[in-house]
Amino acid sequence: MIVCKTKKELAQALSSLPKGSIGFVPTMGALHQGHASLFKRARAENDIFAASVFVNPIQFNNPDDLKNYPRNFEADRKLLEQNGCDLVFAPSEEEMYPQGEAVKSYSFGALETVMEGAQRPGHFKGVGVVVGLLFELIKPDNAYFGEKDFQQVAVIQDLVRQMGIHTRIVPCPIQRAEDGLALSSRNALLTPRHRALAPEIYATLKKSTQMANQTCRELKDFVCAQIAAVPEMELEYFEIARPDSLQSVPDTEPAAGNVGFIVVWMGKVRLIDNIRY
Ligand code: PAF
Repeated sequence: MIVCKTKKELAQALSSLPKGSIGFVPTMGALHQGHASLFKRARAENDIFAASVFVNPIQFNNPDDLKNYPRNFEADRKLLEQNGCDLVFAPSEEEMYPQGEAVKSYSFGALETVMEGAQRPGHFKGVGVVVGLLFELIKPDNAYFGEKDFQQVAVIQDLVRQMGIHTRIVPCPIQRAEDGLALSSRNALLTPRHRALAPEIYATLKKSTQMANQTCRELKDFVCAQIAAVPEMELEYFEIARPDSLQSVPDTEPAAGNVGFIVVWMGKVRLIDNIRY
């Protein structure tokens, strides 16, 4: 596996590899089995499998979240190697965003003003900048993203349309621990007690699917009550939205055919999950 720290090294490495399709998985490191599922697909479906590891400061709206974000490049490198990665791009912040150099920024309209966009101002702008830059540098044929960040997948699909590039976005199903908790780099930051209670989030979402034909209001009340019953959990939002536009479904309509989006805080850790109705 070639490790590139600079854009120049990356360009050289890409031109040294045999010609063929490129499958790309952008990451912020702290890799886990959720990432590994993306790696396996990228490896199986392409001639070249490239990844990036870069904790992108401009997509964090909370300085503490950025400071506490888990980082362990040696472990990341091992997992990438085990999954047959050909090339990893792991630039420094200065390499990615040289001082004084303008970045290309994109607008995602209503996609970036709801849910994660509303709660984390500037988040999707930051994601758009870094993924746009990575796509320009790597020119992937296929790029793989986890559906845990469902809204991010919609934003990236819009990014590709705006950039007018050929990259195909491949959404991949959420990977879960045996007890149901959606795999996330942030899970490592949970206390043992919070980790033991956290599966209640998915258990609640799963139970709520039995109410898919009831109104969104009834379903929201159920989910809110279940989470409120766990004192260690604080619900940031639970929203039912259209799978394509991500716009909220009226409370009087049934949930079926839409997606439930949840964010729960446990201590200082923000957990996110979603489910299809
Ligand atoms: O999903 C992530 O880990 C990040 O948002 C991404 C796509 C790597 C951009 O920094």
